[in-house]
Amino acid sequence: MYDVKVELDPAFAVGQVGERLFGTFVEHMGRCVYGGIFEPDHPTADEHGFRRDVAELVRELGVTTVRYPGGNFVSGYRWEDGVGPLDERPRRLDLAWRAIEPNTVGVDEFCRWARELDIDPIMAVNLGTRGVSAAVDLLQYCNFGAGTTTLADRRVAHGHKDPHAIGTWCLGNEMDGPWQMGHKTADEYGRLAAETARAMRRADPDIELVVCGSSNSDMPTFGTWERVVLEHTYDLVDHISLHNYYEPVDGDIDSFLTSSESMRRSIGAIASTADHVAAATRSRKQLTISFDEWNVWYQSRFPGELGLEVRDGGALIEDTYSVTDAVVVGDLLMALLDNCDRVAIACQAQLVNVIAPIRTEPGGPAWRQSIFHPFALTARHAGGTVLRSALRTPMLSTSAHGDVPATRVTAVHHPDRGELVILAANRDRMNPARLSVGLRGFDPRGAGSITLTEHLSISDDDPNATNSAEQPDRVVPRPASGTTVADHELSATLPPQSWHVIRLSYAPGA
Ligand code: AHR
Repeated sequence: MYDVKVELDPAFAVGQVGERLFGTFVEHMGRCVYGGIFEPDHPTADEHGFRRDVAELVRELGVTTVRYPGGNFVSGYRWEDGVGPLDERPRRLDLAWRAIEPNTVGVDEFCRWARELDIDPIMAVNLGTRGVSAAVDLLQYCNFGAGTTTLADRRVAHGHKDPHAIGTWCLGNEMDGPWQMGHKTADEYGRLAAETARAMRRADPDIELVVCGSSNSDMPTFGTWERVVLEHTYDLVDHISLHNYYEPVDGDIDSFLTSSESMRRSIGAIASTADHVAAATRSRKQLTISFDEWNVWYQSRFPGELGLEVRDGGALIEDTYSVTDAVVVGDLLMALLDNCDRVAIACQAQLVNVIAPIRTEPGGPAWRQSIFHPFALTARHAGGTVLRSALRTPMLSTSAHGDVPATRVTAVHHPDRGELVILAANRDRMNPARLSVGLRGFDPRGAGSITLTEHLSISDDDPNATNSAEQPDRVVPRPASGTTVADHELSATLPPQSWHVIRLSYAPGA
């Protein structure tokens, strides 16, 4: 057992958690759309063919925003193929995933589905094989009112009178990656992104734009790509994207369990790069980050798209997640919260079946994977003001990240409802932690009360345990025992390799 001590004070705030931090991602890939959110023959399908059981889980997950339609898919996509009468929509070869795209679901169907779930869609435009005019056409189709332009009226004729009112737009996807259809150098992409941004803003000055940063922090051009792209686009965009997937490398679980250190470092690196461009161009604007693809992905099990036969539907990268993966995902969410002053948007990739918190069987059940739970709990309870956590903890020695805190703690304050939410991850595989949190700052005169509402944890004697159609609730958050609040101090035990949400209510004395 080792000791972890934290002192919290409501006066020391990092920032407010943005609405779009609990985002996710729907790509036309594998069974995310077809057989995931959409399955017209399923017993729960609604009148538009979308699965109601999946929709219920999406609601429970607490998703606020969804990026669509890709991913690598968008770089070969013609959005016009996916609108209008179904029997006129073409079947196309999607080069990204070597799959036949039937275009049964397109922009209109997706936006209606998202809005019904109270989800704000984020739309990506194709800057791989297309460019400025296709992007501006899509913007008009989605956002212009009836009677303004022919493209807006085409949407109305397709049965969507009201504009989809999409506020956030991604200028392409992973354009630094040689696997991307229409891959470009930083200068080529920077120029195209700048011209597309200029034209899109002229059409709709209210939109927010996300320019493509690196595909991951191991790319040889990481940092340089962002600098060059931002030199072209800084004053025309609002956010720069960042993507990263995490998995154990060569069985190194200690480094995997502390993956959030890599996420924290890449956020810092990209924020500094953006600030450098601001300084060099004398801009007074500060860019924020859109971490619009993040998750655990066992990429080493994927042969790569070039190893795929051309397919007409079917599963792709359907990772089954364990307790360990859930602890990592919970800890990654904490890293996003701790950086909420710089990360405005974050999308876990993806939503259903494809490296996803929700899994389905064709014609059968939908269930929550282990990683569903930390996301749902964080989205439900952690949308407030993040506080600075002054942490004293022993360090863990890892080969990937060096010496890093054995336990991480993130605190979110809801002054309006007198609630403090503490998230904690014990990343030590061997040793439990004794957590003490000083709470004097929440009741400075000592005359009030602080009480424990709930302590839920994800931990298990078998870290490899997973959920399945047969055992959908094998891994769930469970109430933890022995947690107390006394003398303005919270005490809890965090088992090895575990993730926690602890909720406290307080009423300061007068
Ligand atoms: O989410 C799967 C793929 O990962 C996306 O299509 C791409 O953007 C990323 O490389």
